Amino acid sequence: MESNQGTTRRGFMTWATAGIMGFIGMCLSIPMVGYIVSPALLRRKESPIKIGSLSQLEPDDPAELEAVFESSDGYLKTMATRAVWAVKRKSGEIRVYNPHCTHLGCAYHWNKEERLFKCPCHLGVYDIDGNVVSGPPPRSLDTLEYHVEGENLFVDYRDFRAGSVKKSPI
Ligand code: FES
Repeated sequence: MESNQGTTRRGFMTWATAGIMGFIGMCLSIPMVGYIVSPALLRRKESPIKIGSLSQLEPDDPAELEAVFESSDGYLKTMATRAVWAVKRKSGEIRVYNPHCTHLGCAYHWNKEERLFKCPCHLGVYDIDGNVVSGPPPRSLDTLEYHVEGENLFVDYRDFRAGSVKKSPI
């Protein structure tokens, strides 16, 4: 016959063992869950990408340059293509523009004859410095950070919220 004290002790040992095992399991699972989930919570990361060489830029003649690069978004690694507009002014100043119109994000193009950037969607017009000339765009074209290494031009590609006066990265 088992004493009441023996039952209580066995019950306590069972609960204590379950508690310790649960605690160990929780300690092991928290870093594991963090390891699994954290990449999905990371923002898209793109490093500066080479978009071309300085020799492709003629003074005051905007050039559409393109780059193919690997983009990492959480677990997902994909090859992405980005086109940007680069302008070298006669003064030597370089500007690189995000390719989306600041109104609703359509792709705009350089019109050589009129010497203006024109957006076909709602007839937004910008000058060579990215300033709004006419139409609904609420702000100038979005400039991108860039740097030059030797002859090569690298850009820190970003997209920005369309339709707002303020330039804010997405
Ligand atoms: Fe360019 Fe509307 S999206 S003018």
